[in-house]
Amino acid sequence: MPKVKAKSVKKVNLKEGQAVLPFQAPKGMRDILPQDMPLWEKFEKEAKQITEFYNFSKIETPILENLDLFVRGIGEGTDIVEKEMFVVRTRGGGKLVLRPEMTAPVVRAFIQHGLHRLPQPQRLYYLGPAFRHENPQSGRFRQFHQLGLEILSGEGESDPVYDAEIVIASYHLLEELKIKNLVIQLNSIGCRTCRPTYKKKLSEYYRGKDICRDCKLRLQINPLRVLDCKNKNCQPIKAGAPSVLDYLCAPCKSHLKRVLEFLDEVKLPYIMNSQLVRGLDYYNRTVFEIFTEEGDLALAGGGRYDYLSEMLGGRPVSAVGVAIGIERIIEIIRSTYTNGLNSHKAKVFLVYIGDVARIKSLSLIEDLRKNRIPVAQALGKNSLSSQLEVAQKAGSPLALIFGQKESHEGSIIVRDMESGVQEVVPLTKIADELKHRLHRD
Ligand code: HAM
Repeated sequence: MPKVKAKSVKKVNLKEGQAVLPFQAPKGMRDILPQDMPLWEKFEKEAKQITEFYNFSKIETPILENLDLFVRGIGEGTDIVEKEMFVVRTRGGGKLVLRPEMTAPVVRAFIQHGLHRLPQPQRLYYLGPAFRHENPQSGRFRQFHQLGLEILSGEGESDPVYDAEIVIASYHLLEELKIKNLVIQLNSIGCRTCRPTYKKKLSEYYRGKDICRDCKLRLQINPLRVLDCKNKNCQPIKAGAPSVLDYLCAPCKSHLKRVLEFLDEVKLPYIMNSQLVRGLDYYNRTVFEIFTEEGDLALAGGGRYDYLSEMLGGRPVSAVGVAIGIERIIEIIRSTYTNGLNSHKAKVFLVYIGDVARIKSLSLIEDLRKNRIPVAQALGKNSLSSQLEVAQKAGSPLALIFGQKESHEGSIIVRDMESGVQEVVPLTKIADELKHRLHRD
């Protein structure tokens, strides 16, 4: 066993008022603290409803995958593959990476498990962490979470209705979360037949122009990537670039037309952005991103990727999907739900007085649990006043007061916290009494 030695521990100076701690979460990675969980649970609840409604089944793939899966799938020359992958060397000398996204892994799983033999298309969803070694900044992390929806068909039906369904389902999820002013940006980047001509035109247009080093490289590896460039000096040149929409072949044009017809039918607010190419190489035809009018970071992004399966050595699979960035959503919905998301508030709070009552409280709590009555307590606190303080913060509408006398008599006091009215109830009847009262509310 190789010996792993810890480096000497450096002290980190945190903000004033905080303790001085030797360790912090790795750069760009964050703890999700209990106070934020109601927001995450809200997201997951709405996501579950949408995925169930649109009939998606859950899939989970490993966090680590072979490096080549992404090199082949996402593509050399993309920022993700060139700069952003966390590579793990295995003891056997292989290279695994922390998945930077889940579309390539889902297609790998589709091929590996022969999911084309099941009824087609397969409608799959996933929710989990992804990792990209980016420069951390607001809304951009090194570990972040995605909810993804993918529709895959081994029968080669590249039906535009699936493109529309993916856009519609992701849009409606964001809408259900009460996110306002959503805008869908959409484009078609053509197919194997028409894209080469467009790439050639784009390269010709850029030739001899004063562009950044990255763009020069992009022109050699994958000219479409120049449209991703954020460099200030390249923007006027980019603005005059030929539009991919002018070079689409007839089948791609008709595919796009059908997608737009479906979106028009449900009145989704999209705008065409002929410079939207997306940062991953596996797309063909439809690509889209969803923003709010106020923000410049995409909340969701996706598109069609009919060649990915073949790029990974599999049979032809036509597919389309989306991934939604959960951290970005949480930041937006935080202000909407500041007061309304305490879903775990127990409706009953148990207060004990004296040691005998404290011991007997344990079996009472178990009894209530078996009756599916969530009960909060502060058995770790000794004094009545400190228990009441916790009870008040918990905001439960009913309190159970279990004193010396009651524990001997086999009864308990039920107190309505709003009216202050109290009633003594035999322990044998307390579960029924609480069910009755909780049901009544
Ligand atoms: P993507 O555009 O790379 O696409 O990521 C999708 C979403 O994940 C983004 O719109 C954003 O909300 C979120 N996201 C991406 N990077 C970060 C980051 N560093 N920090 C926080 N959030 C981030 C994909 O990943 C494709 N696999 C989507 C797809 C599914 N295409 C077809 N099917």
